[in-house]
Amino acid sequence: MAKKVLEVKDLKISFKTDNGFVRAVRNVSFDLEEGETLCVVGESGSGKSVTSKAIMGILANNAIVENGSIIYEGENLLEVSEEEFHRIRGKKIGMIFQDPLSSLNPIVKIGKQITEATLVNSCKIKKLFQEKIVIQLVAYRNFISQNKIAYLKALAKYEEEKATAKKRLKEESLSEAESAAIKESVRASKMAYLAIKLKLKAERKEKLPALKSALKKRKKEAKAEVKVYRSTLKAEYAAKISTLKASKANAKESDIEKIDQELALVKKEYIDSLYITKAEAKRRAIEIMTEVGIPMPERRFKQYPFQFSGGMRQRIVIAIALTADPDILICDEPTTALDVTIQAQILDLINKLKRERKLSCVFITHDLGVVANMADRVAVMYAGKIVEYGSVNDIFYNPKHPYTWALLSSIPDVDSKERLEAIPGTPPDMIYPPAGDAFALRSKYAMGIDFNHEPPFFKVSDNHYAATWLLHPDAPKVEMPKIVAERIERTKGGSQQ
Ligand SMILES: Nc1ncnc2c1ncn2[C@@H]1O[C@H](COP(=O)(O)OP(=O)(O)OP(=O)(O)O)[C@@H](O)[C@H]1O
Ligand SMILES: [Mg+2]
Repeated sequence: MAKKVLEVKDLKISFKTDNGFVRAVRNVSFDLEEGETLCVVGESGSGKSVTSKAIMGILANNAIVENGSIIYEGENLLEVSEEEFHRIRGKKIGMIFQDPLSSLNPIVKIGKQITEATLVNSCKIKKLFQEKIVIQLVAYRNFISQNKIAYLKALAKYEEEKATAKKRLKEESLSEAESAAIKESVRASKMAYLAIKLKLKAERKEKLPALKSALKKRKKEAKAEVKVYRSTLKAEYAAKISTLKASKANAKESDIEKIDQELALVKKEYIDSLYITKAEAKRRAIEIMTEVGIPMPERRFKQYPFQFSGGMRQRIVIAIALTADPDILICDEPTTALDVTIQAQILDLINKLKRERKLSCVFITHDLGVVANMADRVAVMYAGKIVEYGSVNDIFYNPKHPYTWALLSSIPDVDSKERLEAIPGTPPDMIYPPAGDAFALRSKYAMGIDFNHEPPFFKVSDNHYAATWLLHPDAPKVEMPKIVAERIERTKGGSQQ
């Protein structure tokens, strides 16, 4: 079985607004396998971007992560400390957005924007030290942040209960017994909160000193190791230089120039082993600009974003994401703003990079045509939930959820170029998402149960699941829309020719 590089479990995210809580993501789970592209598809407002922003740790301030975990390299990204998140974000997980202009600084030259990230961490010795202490540092920081998150959760729960009780106590119709009961329940939740607070404090007292001293010990060792490493480099350098200088002293006039060149090279190598110099950063930037298909990168390096076309700008954004050599690339509608030919080129580029760099991709789109070109697997999202997931073949040739059918019916036909059937109705209000199957209100296949009970995932095949009551053994047998069935037949026929 392929290795899972990212596991999203029971993710639930809401936004606090003046009108109420927007239930943007409602218990979403999926995982990303090494080297695959998972396409997340669904119409506007279904929660695609919110999900990807949660992975990147860039949710808006009014977002509340109510539940769930996002596991990357054994750590829950929703619980790690700010510093640790910085290390992962950008470095290990890169992101490309729909609008390349918004991720570029309009008044800074492209070259500087590409080399910036590289130069920030230019001291190799310091980086080596950081790498040597990372396990202990992360353990220490994550413990503190998890402890703090647990405390804040308990506090938020207590505050909410208190506020609700206060509101209820103002109701005039309340009997004395009722208000006594409410006051009692507030007291109880205060006690519960205080108990958690004490427990967390005790946990800190018990575990923090050991974590702290482990970190201190590792820092000391790492410092010594780095010192040895550095002095070895220095000694080797000094030895090479003195040999060369000695040979220069005895050299013939004609050899002097060659020895001087060698001296300069040895010096450069020494500096390169300590720092990433500006020249080195530029060399790498040009290399990556070439990799992402920017012609004349040397000249382009000195230009501003406005001097680039939309497609070229998106290539620059991709180049910036690649400088950190990420394992995972999250692409949120990266081609929506581009015209069709340029869109195809960028998709080809992402596919090429994925192959050559062994990247795993989460690719977000509302365009099933793009899905067909990019996906290994597909997750179909509707109203903050995944309603169906499976391989790209499962979704295109054996779709099971009425919403997937509706999406497939609405792709323009390759031959006639016309949109076959628009999805009726409008997306639901996410402050009051519909009970049961959220798509029922817009689906002619809806049954009574769909309006009250949320369907579980029914297994279609090993990797193919759909959350629709139509798959229940007792459900009446319903065929997919004719339009979709006919198209599948045609495509199958076409591909067999
Ligand atoms: N900061 C916010 N405050 C309130 N609601 C928000 C906020 N950000 C997103 N939402 C809401 O969350 C829901 C999901 O939004 P999201 O951006 O994930 O949709 P999407 O699937 O990416 O759609 P699109 O295809 O338009 O990009 C929407 O109802 C949106 O209005
Ligand atoms: Mg979006």
